[in-house]
Amino acid sequence: MAVKTIIKAISLFVMFMIAHNNGFGQTYAKQGMVVCDNTVASNIGVSILKKGGNAIDASIATAFALAVTHPQAGNIGGGGFLVFMDSEGKSTTIDFREKAPLLASSDMFLDDEGVLVKGSNHNGLKSVGVPGTVAGLYMAHQKYGTLPWRDLVQPAVQLAKDGVVLSWTLAEHAKKHNAGDYPQFLKDYFKNPKGELTEFGELWVQQELATTLELIRDHGKDGFYKGSVAQEIADFMKANGGIITLDDLSKYEAVERKPIKGTYKEFEIIAMPPPSSGGVAVIEMLNLMEQANLDSIPFNSTAYVHLVAEAMRRTFADRAEHLGDPDYNLDMPLDKLISKDFAKMRYENIDFNHASISDSSKFGQLYDGKNTTHLSIIDKDGNAVSLTYTIEQSYGSGLGSPHLGFIFNNEMGDFNPQPGYTNNGWIIGTDPNVIQPEKRMLSSMSPTIITKNGRPYLIIGSPGGRTIISTVFQAILNVIEYEMSIEKAIEVMKIHHQWMPNELVFENDLMSPDTQKALTQMGHTLKGRESLGRLMGILCLPSGVYQGASDSSSPDGGAVGY
Ligand code: GLY
Repeated sequence: MAVKTIIKAISLFVMFMIAHNNGFGQTYAKQGMVVCDNTVASNIGVSILKKGGNAIDASIATAFALAVTHPQAGNIGGGGFLVFMDSEGKSTTIDFREKAPLLASSDMFLDDEGVLVKGSNHNGLKSVGVPGTVAGLYMAHQKYGTLPWRDLVQPAVQLAKDGVVLSWTLAEHAKKHNAGDYPQFLKDYFKNPKGELTEFGELWVQQELATTLELIRDHGKDGFYKGSVAQEIADFMKANGGIITLDDLSKYEAVERKPIKGTYKEFEIIAMPPPSSGGVAVIEMLNLMEQANLDSIPFNSTAYVHLVAEAMRRTFADRAEHLGDPDYNLDMPLDKLISKDFAKMRYENIDFNHASISDSSKFGQLYDGKNTTHLSIIDKDGNAVSLTYTIEQSYGSGLGSPHLGFIFNNEMGDFNPQPGYTNNGWIIGTDPNVIQPEKRMLSSMSPTIITKNGRPYLIIGSPGGRTIISTVFQAILNVIEYEMSIEKAIEVMKIHHQWMPNELVFENDLMSPDTQKALTQMGHTLKGRESLGRLMGILCLPSGVYQGASDSSSPDGGAVGY
C-alpha cells in the first residue's frame, strides 16, 4: 500500500511537472515548448501554442514579448534570422538583418588619415542599421502563420501597458548600465512615474512602447516602416546626427533565403546562410570534427580542447576571408567551405601536439558579450523554429526616441570598419564585409535545427557575437557525439577560438588546472572568461517527448512546455 502510494505520488509529481513547467532546469513536455531568455515571454509563446497557433505564430508572439521584457536584446529596433522547418520536413529561413542606410559609406567611421575613429562604429546614431525585426516577423506571419497577426502582437502591447515586474537581473543590469556613461535615453527608459530608476520588484510600465506596438498590431509592417513611427524615426535621426531616412525605412524588406545544409554522421544540419556566417561556420566545424575519431578522445580532455580550438581557428579564418552579404558578394565559395573534402584538407594540417599559428597579417575581430537573444520553439505537429535576433551590444546604441519607447541597434559595428586593414586583435578589413549602402552586415548568429530521419532532433541557438558559432557547434557535438541531455550539453564547459586574437577562451572554473597547463605547453594562449554563450535548446527524444533547457547564465530565462 505504502509503495503504491509512493509510486502514485511520484507519477502525480511527474505529471504536474509536465503540465506546469516552472521554466527552471530541464523541462519535459509532450505537446509543445518555448525556450527563451525570459519566462514571461516563454509563457506567452506557449499560450499561443495552446490556442492552436503553430511554432511560427508562437515565435512572433515570443519575439514581441521579449521586446518588452528583455530590452538588452529583445527588440523591434534591431534585426535577426529565423530558421523554420515544417511538419512535412520542408525548411526555409527568413533574413531580417539590419541594412546599412542609403547614406552610409565605407569610410564613414574613418578620420582624415583613413584610420578608424575608435568606438565610432558602435556609438551614436550613425552606428544604427535600418531595423529589420518587424519586417521579418511580419513576413514569417504572412507566409507561415496561422492565427491573426493582431493576436500575436497584442500580448506584448498588454505587457508594455500593464507593466512587468522588474526582475532582479534586469534591475541590476539596468543600474550597471545607467551608472556608466550611457546615453540619456537609456537612463530615462527605466524610470518610474516619480522619475526614479525602477527598482527590483516594482512594476515597470512602458507606455510609449505600447503605443508603438499598437500601431504595429493594427497596421502590420506599415505600422513601423510608414506613418507616424517612421516619421518620428526619421525626424529623430535628422535632429541628432543620424542618417536613416524615410526612404531607408520604406525600402526595407526582409528576405526569404534557402537554408544552408550540411550533415554530421546521420544527422542533417539546417542553418542560416549569409549574411550570417553562423551556418557555414557551424557546418565547417562539424565537418572538421567528423574527420576525428572522437570515440577515442574523451570529452574535455586536453586532446579534445586542442582539436576543437584548432577546428575553430581554421573556420574563423575562412569566415573572415570569404563571408559577407550574399546580395553584394555573388561569388562566395559556400559549397566549398561546407564540403567534406575541404574539411579533410583543413583537418590534415592540424598538429595534434602543438597550437597552430594565427597569422597576424590576416584576419581577426572582436568577440562579443551575450548581447543577442535566442528562442527555440516546437509545436504539437512538429513544426520547429529557431530564431536569433539582436541589437548588437547590450541595449544596442542606448539611443532612441522618447516618443517611440524602443532602443535602436548599433549593428553598423558588425561591418569591417576600415577597408583593407586587419590587425592582430579585433579588426578585420576584408572586402566582403566592407560597408556599402543597403548592404547587410555579416553576423555570427546561428539559429540551427538538427534533424534525424527527416524530423526535428535539436533546436538550438545562443547570443554571444562570434562566440555564438562556437557555443552552438559545441552544444550540437555534446548532444550527438557525447549523448548528453539538453541541460548538460548547455551547461558543460565550452571554449572559443576565433583565429585572431590568437586566444583560446575557456569558461573559468570549468577547465582543470592540469588541462590548462597542458594546453599552454602546446603553445595555446589561454584566456578565462566567466561564461560563454547563453544557449536555449530543445531536444526531441525518441519517445516523442520534448526536453528543453535554458542556460543557467540566463536567470530570467526558461523552458516552458505543455
Ligand atoms: N551582433 C552580433 C551578430 O550579429 O553576430
